[in-house]
Amino acid sequence: MCGIVGYIGDGNVYDILIKGLHRLEYRGYDSAGIALCAPDGSLNIYKSCGKVSNLEQHCKGKKLDAKVGIAHTRWATHGEPTDNNAHPHYSEDGNIALVHNGTIENYKVLKDALIEHGCTFHSETDTEVLVELIEYIRLKNNCSLVDAVRQALNEVVGAYAIAVIEKSNPDQIIAARKSSPLVIGIGKDEFFLASDATPFVEYTQNVVYLKDEEIAVIKKGEPLKLLNLENEEADVNITELQMSISQLEKGGFPHFMLKEIFEQPDTLRDCIRGRVIDGGKRVCLTGVLDNKEKFLNAKRIVIVACGTSWHAALLGKYLLQDMARIPVEVEYASEFRYSNPVLDDRDIVIAISQSGETADTLAAIQIAKEMGAFVYGISNVVGSSIPRETHSGTYIHVGPEIGVASTKAFTGQVMVLTLLAIAVGRLRGNLSEEEEERLGGYISRIPELVEDVLKLNDKIKHLSLIYTYARNFLYLGRGYSYPVALEGALKLKEISYIHAEGYPAAEMKHGPIALIDAEMPSVIIAPNDHLYEKIVNNVQQVKARQGSVIAIVTRGDTEIANIADHVLDIPEVPECLTPIITSVPLQLLSYYIAINKGKNVDMPRNLAKSVTVE
Ligand code: M6R
Repeated sequence: MCGIVGYIGDGNVYDILIKGLHRLEYRGYDSAGIALCAPDGSLNIYKSCGKVSNLEQHCKGKKLDAKVGIAHTRWATHGEPTDNNAHPHYSEDGNIALVHNGTIENYKVLKDALIEHGCTFHSETDTEVLVELIEYIRLKNNCSLVDAVRQALNEVVGAYAIAVIEKSNPDQIIAARKSSPLVIGIGKDEFFLASDATPFVEYTQNVVYLKDEEIAVIKKGEPLKLLNLENEEADVNITELQMSISQLEKGGFPHFMLKEIFEQPDTLRDCIRGRVIDGGKRVCLTGVLDNKEKFLNAKRIVIVACGTSWHAALLGKYLLQDMARIPVEVEYASEFRYSNPVLDDRDIVIAISQSGETADTLAAIQIAKEMGAFVYGISNVVGSSIPRETHSGTYIHVGPEIGVASTKAFTGQVMVLTLLAIAVGRLRGNLSEEEEERLGGYISRIPELVEDVLKLNDKIKHLSLIYTYARNFLYLGRGYSYPVALEGALKLKEISYIHAEGYPAAEMKHGPIALIDAEMPSVIIAPNDHLYEKIVNNVQQVKARQGSVIAIVTRGDTEIANIADHVLDIPEVPECLTPIITSVPLQLLSYYIAINKGKNVDMPRNLAKSVTVE
């Protein structure tokens, strides 16, 4: 949800910022802009609607030399994606420029007060209010920029990650955060700052994750200084990044999404490393071992998440109920916070989020903590807010996911939930040692089984041509395959813009069956599990109404293979592991359909990778 980047040092400021914006473009791509303090004392601001490449075109031939700069790629909240609403925003006197990721909730009140003091506004954004407020305070109180930023932030309600530069004092960047991520990279005589570490991973591995309500004073040649909103100095904790530049490149693939789909054998290997031990016989999850009492005494688990992570959460319910025999509820984080939840200290709340920054999920965590629940996070991005806000948790370790459509994070989340269910099941005595060993053996082989499924690539590419122009799709599954159906439908919707619905297959007869005709293809997830015979009936029902069927079946299947129009066969695995296997062909199907339609799969319209606003 908007990406911000800043740099101060002897490097080429413009090049570093533009490259950084490209890396952050997955966070939003409605407009982009850059502000540069030039050595001659001028402050030059360039903005352009659309992608970062448009900004680069716009900047050609312009004055780009600089000592310090900040830049922004936007996902619009307040005001349409126009040049005018693009960041950086600047004070009316042209002295300060600011980029912002987040939402200023009380912007209207602040704006009205500033208008009374004679300010005029040129955009519809909440951000322009913040920049005017800072400059108003700086002039009125005759104080430094950092003081003015601090005082302004004390008046602000909402979420922000900001970076501010000043024409009259071009040797510094003032940055701050609350509920939106911001990380500072410390190089040799240079500083970087960004919404995540991807813009500067090739320059430094030393980073400081800013905490909520912390202000950073970043000056070339001086140590980094952190203050809180009360003007007290805070400790600077430097941590080392665990990221390499190759993880941020497409590695020969045309799109990040395809690269990430094909990375899954490796990412799943990384995800289970050290967690399935003794030659595949034992499952060991530190987060469970460290909190045995909590998991032993839990009377209920509530899982909160959004989007794809919510689909993983739904699978978590099946897994935990099957293996650990604890009642599980699954909630959309965005609804949970407004549902007046009933929780106490015998509840465990599991929050799942790839980015670790989703605002709705963070808000749900806050409520759960306030009500005394033990909160466990499952995230991908190391050092992000969710792992820091939760009591304990597990990283999925699948590496940076750049494609907006989540793929490898989903299979990583489901894998961690499977391990969690086994670990808690063993702890509570509901899963036998033999079953742990049987599942552990299969889990150890999951990377090679996913490799096997990826061999369907050419077949799926060919199949996609037949369905590229379908206007609607149904995705059907039962039991463990129902959340997979939801996820398959979401993947298709978000990158190809085809309307798709995921349904529990048996619900079809209660309504959706009315939709089926020769124009409505159904994707039916039908591995060889205990519901197989029932789903055969669902396939028959679709065929009886002239609907065409693409079925995901277990290798060797003959029954569905005889009635479906197309089958994609997967290797046999225990029922609880089928989602990791069956979701992969659905990822490929949505990818190829979107490609056939000429869509930008890595940056689908209206979406952003990390949703840090409510
Ligand atoms: O970072 P999170 O896992 O919290 O993100 C949640 C959703 O915004 C995300 O899964 C979204 O639905 C993806 N675009 C799905 O592909």
